[in-house]
Amino acid sequence: MDIPVLHRLALNESPYPPLPSVRKAMRRAVAQANRYPQFHPDLLTERIADWCGVAPDRVAVGSGSVGVALQLLQAVVRRGDTVAYAWRTFDAYPLLTTMVGAQPVPVPLLPDGRQDLAALLAVLDGRARVVVLCNPHNPTGSLITADALSAFLRQVPEHVTVLLDEAYIEFARDTDLPDSPALLGAQPNLLVLRTFSKAYGLAALRVGYGLGSPDLVARIRRQQLPFGINAVATAAVEASLRADDELRRRVDTVVAERERLRCELLGLGLHIRPSHANSLWLTAPDPIEACAAALTADGVAARYYPGEGIRLTVGSRAANDAVLAALAGVGRGANPVRRLAARS
Ligand SMILES: Cc1ncc(COP(=O)(O)O)c(C=O)c1O
Repeated sequence: MDIPVLHRLALNESPYPPLPSVRKAMRRAVAQANRYPQFHPDLLTERIADWCGVAPDRVAVGSGSVGVALQLLQAVVRRGDTVAYAWRTFDAYPLLTTMVGAQPVPVPLLPDGRQDLAALLAVLDGRARVVVLCNPHNPTGSLITADALSAFLRQVPEHVTVLLDEAYIEFARDTDLPDSPALLGAQPNLLVLRTFSKAYGLAALRVGYGLGSPDLVARIRRQQLPFGINAVATAAVEASLRADDELRRRVDTVVAERERLRCELLGLGLHIRPSHANSLWLTAPDPIEACAAALTADGVAARYYPGEGIRLTVGSRAANDAVLAALAGVGRGANPVRRLAARS
């Protein structure tokens, strides 16, 4: 019997629907859906640049941050080049790499879930064209500190572009957090990648952006599909920027829930490391197979990587309570597989 999904915690989405002001802006845009959006998203680019405090020629907008990442690879990678990233990471990186005819070079994570920066540097040979860093990291939620990032950037060869994926940066609260836009002036081979899908809760609308040097941004923009950013999404992003304070408070709530969830899971006897993203990572020595079975049995969809771990998105309070209820038995040593059998 299929168990219905009651809580969607598998894709690191926001638990909140768009704000009323954002929905109103979207409705207005829908009413004019017979009209094309801008050929290139210049007005939206200016708006984002203004909000980020950088010049517009440092901003490239795309179809989600994954779209900007593809445009970057299309701009800088030639067939046979290599793209390095820590593995495991966001599933799109191997796909995008093969889409542009490059060879993926996955570098194992450190045992504590951090990206192995020394090992990543070591694979950057003459064929390497892009290295991806994910900060905070998906799926482990680990953080690259400001000092570690600066040291890494100092050592990266000039012919390699650093794709710094900050899809979850708004959820990070650490005082050692890098101020990545401030690094751009000295680092022409850096692209900082951000998105409206996570903290801003607009995953369905597909808007992301990259911050980089004017030269790199110009090359990325050349790969932009004409009329590629739709008008409803543009209206939603503009309205979200106007409601920034309200949306930031939602992020604060998710961060508080993340800390509560982790604390309660530690109390259940699980070993969860601190996370700087909107997710927690369950891994050895915890019994992840049993945890995955228990979550599924209670209608919680999480991202399960057999043999590696479970990425659990921090959801609404009710969803997080459902996680705690599901994992209570596992943490205390009960056998959830037996519970599962008893239900079906
Ligand atoms: C690390 C990371 N980067 C990028 C993305 C994709 O975001 P977008 O919706 O902006 O394409 C995700 C989505 O899960 C992600 O985990």
